Amino acid sequence: PINDLAVTPAMGWNNWNAFDCSVNEHLLLSTAEKMAAMGLRDAGYEYIVLDDCWSIGRDKKGNLRHDPEKFPHGMKYVAEKLHSLGFRFGMYSDAGTYTCARYVGSLGYEKQDAQTFASWDVDYLKYDNCYNEGLSGTPKITSERYRTMTEALKATGRPILYAICNWGEDYPWKWGHTVANSWRMSGDIYDSFDRPDPRCPCTGDEYDCPLPGSHCSAMNILNKAASISHTSIPGAWNDLDMLEVGNGGMDDEEYKTHFSMWAALKSPLLMGNDVNIMDAKALSILNNPAVLAVSQDPVGAPAVRRWRYFVNDTDEFDQGEIQMWAGPLFGGDQLVILLNAGNNSRTMTATLVDVFRVATGIPKEIKEDWDIYDLWANRMDDATAQSVIDGSTTGEDGANVARFYYNATKTSYK
Ligand code: DGJ
Repeated sequence: PINDLAVTPAMGWNNWNAFDCSVNEHLLLSTAEKMAAMGLRDAGYEYIVLDDCWSIGRDKKGNLRHDPEKFPHGMKYVAEKLHSLGFRFGMYSDAGTYTCARYVGSLGYEKQDAQTFASWDVDYLKYDNCYNEGLSGTPKITSERYRTMTEALKATGRPILYAICNWGEDYPWKWGHTVANSWRMSGDIYDSFDRPDPRCPCTGDEYDCPLPGSHCSAMNILNKAASISHTSIPGAWNDLDMLEVGNGGMDDEEYKTHFSMWAALKSPLLMGNDVNIMDAKALSILNNPAVLAVSQDPVGAPAVRRWRYFVNDTDEFDQGEIQMWAGPLFGGDQLVILLNAGNNSRTMTATLVDVFRVATGIPKEIKEDWDIYDLWANRMDDATAQSVIDGSTTGEDGANVARFYYNATKTSYK
C-alpha cells in the first residue's frame, strides 16, 4: 500500500448520488451533524466527501478557488467544522483538464493542487477520470497519470487517503495497490438492483457510457467484481461505487443485499443518500453493526464467489440467478452468503466443501461443528430506528439516544 491509511475499507458519506452538483457548505455540515446525532459517525462513517462542482476555476497564481457562493467561509473552515464534529474531510478533483461536470481539473497542476488540499486540512481525495486528454488506453499510461497525484499528495506530508475513480479503465485492480488506497472498478452505480439504466445499459464490463451519470445496477457491478474481488488487500481496495441505500430505487431486501455484498467484498462504504429524509429501514441497514463488522474485519479478506447458478424466472429482465460467496473472518470465523437475485424464493444449500473449496474431503484442520449467526437477525426494529431518527433532531440528547441503541445492538450480537 502507498501509505498506512484505509487499513480497513473507508466509511463515510458522499453527496453525489443524492445531490449531484447541488453542493454547499450547509449540506456538508448539516449532514455531518445529523450523522453524528444518529450514531452513524460512531458506527464508523468517518469521511464526509464533497464531490464535483465545488470550484470556480483558478486564481492568477494558478491556485484552485472554491465557489464563494457555495462555500462562503472557504474550504478550510469546512474541514475545521467537520474535524470538530469528529469527522474527516474528503475533496474531489479530476486527473484531466476538466472534471466530469466541466469544472477545472488537476492534470498538470498535481503538486500545486495537492498543496492546496493539504493547506485546507483535507483528509481524503477522490480523483476522477474525465477529460484526461487521451492519457489512457494502457495500464502504464493511466497508472502514471494517477501516480503523479500519489507523489504530490505524499510530498505534502499530510496523510490523505487517495481514492481514484477511473471506472475500471485499464485494469486498476492490477496496479491500483501501487498508486492508491482504492480504485473504482466499474461505471457509476444506478439506483436499481438488477436493471441497469435503460439510457445506457451496463453489462458489467463497460465503463465508457457516453452519457454522464449513472448506469450500472448493483448486480452488474457485483458480477463484474466477482472475478477481481480477491485483488483487494488492506490499504488498497476495489471500490464498487457509493451506496444507494435510502435513495428509493430498490426495495428493502435489495438494499440489504446491496449493503451486505459491498461490506463482504470490502468496498469502501460511502453512504449516498439524503440523511434528512432517511427512513427507519435505511438507517437500520446502514447501522447494522454485524454487517459493519464484516466490512471492517481485521483480516481484510474480501469474500469470493464460490458458485453461481442460473434459474429461469418468468420476468424477462430477471436472470433469476443464485450465488454463493464465502470468505475468512477474524478468529477463524467464516462469512457465508447465499444470494438469491431472483424474484422467487429458493432453497439454497452451502456445504463445507463449497465454503472451503476442498473437493477431496474436509481436512482435519477444518472443524465440522459450526455455530451459525444470521447477521441480519438483530437488525434494529423500525420503531427503534425511527426514534433514533426523531431523536437526532434534538442535538446532544439525540446523539446519546443513538449511541445507546448502537451499543446495545452491538453487544447483544456476540
Ligand atoms: C463520475 C464519477 O464516477 C462519479 O462518482 C462522480 O464523481 C461524477 N463523475 C462527478 O461528475
